[in-house]
Amino acid sequence: MKTWQASMPSNIALIKYMGKTDHSQNAATNGSCSMTLESFRSTVEIEVVSDAANDRWEPLATDYPLPGGVGDRFLSFFHKLKTAEGLADQSFLIRSGNNFPSDCGLASSASSFASLTMAAEKCFAELKERPVRNATELANISRTGSGSSCRSFFGPWCLWEGETITQMESKMPKLTDFVLVCGSGHKTVSSSEAHRRVANSPLMESRLERIPGRLERSKAAIANGDYDTVREIAWDDMWEMHSLFHTSQPPFFYFSPETIAVLQFVEQAWKRGELKPIATIDAGPNVHLLIPAEQADEFRSLLDKTLGEGRKEGAPIRYLESES
Ligand code: DP6
Repeated sequence: MKTWQASMPSNIALIKYMGKTDHSQNAATNGSCSMTLESFRSTVEIEVVSDAANDRWEPLATDYPLPGGVGDRFLSFFHKLKTAEGLADQSFLIRSGNNFPSDCGLASSASSFASLTMAAEKCFAELKERPVRNATELANISRTGSGSSCRSFFGPWCLWEGETITQMESKMPKLTDFVLVCGSGHKTVSSSEAHRRVANSPLMESRLERIPGRLERSKAAIANGDYDTVREIAWDDMWEMHSLFHTSQPPFFYFSPETIAVLQFVEQAWKRGELKPIATIDAGPNVHLLIPAEQADEFRSLLDKTLGEGRKEGAPIRYLESES
């Protein structure tokens, strides 16, 4: 049986997408920019089936299959894609899995929706005998499944502003992302719910005034390889997004005691001035620490010495690594 497959990476935003003007289309209130995480990937496989009335999902035999399933949003997005192709009556088998553990608290919606869009495109283009659409079109389609997934189509640095999703000019060094796992429990507030709640934060209006300038500065800093400016912008934007969470009605909070411990480690590292990670946190407790790849060994030793050997099973704060 013919199978269409795609594997797409995750990404980490330094200027965050938070808030939507249209929730049904994941139209973002503000522009965002991100770095691709090449080593954190999802894979999706699609097969035509003739013996079923509905689409089915199965875990793919990857290192980390998804034992709990993919959730309704994944299959209903696929249903939307096939309906748009005039294939609503055809049933498909979809398999998916990640190459990173699903209990590590690392969101997989960006990589999984990007992979689903890409695999579906390959499948439908062949079935309908039409060309595969370009990356911008596909990124915009994927965006309607999960907003942040659109940035996985362009790397290593991607800018998303409205319907414009592009690769950014970059002289940034190759970075290694250390993801410090500071909690893997189920999120009490999903990122989709966070996008809704932040609309009523009194800080939203002033954030939206600051974002265009911040995006311009980050474009220039990434283009010029100005690492310290990128680091400062990422820090400001991370705190600003979390401040929206803390000041929404009702307020919500993702940090765990481990998150705070990692942030204190960052502050100390910056003070010492030898290894200065870029730090950012999504809608969850985990902290991403980005460091030039050439300093990754030294940084790993510092992490292990200060926070415990996080590569080992059972460590108080585990970490995973990905290249940009
Ligand atoms: C905090 O893309 O998960 O990670 O569009 O509802 O699927 P939906 O939201 P999602 O939002 C991610 C928000 C974020 C910041 C970011 O990645 O820019």
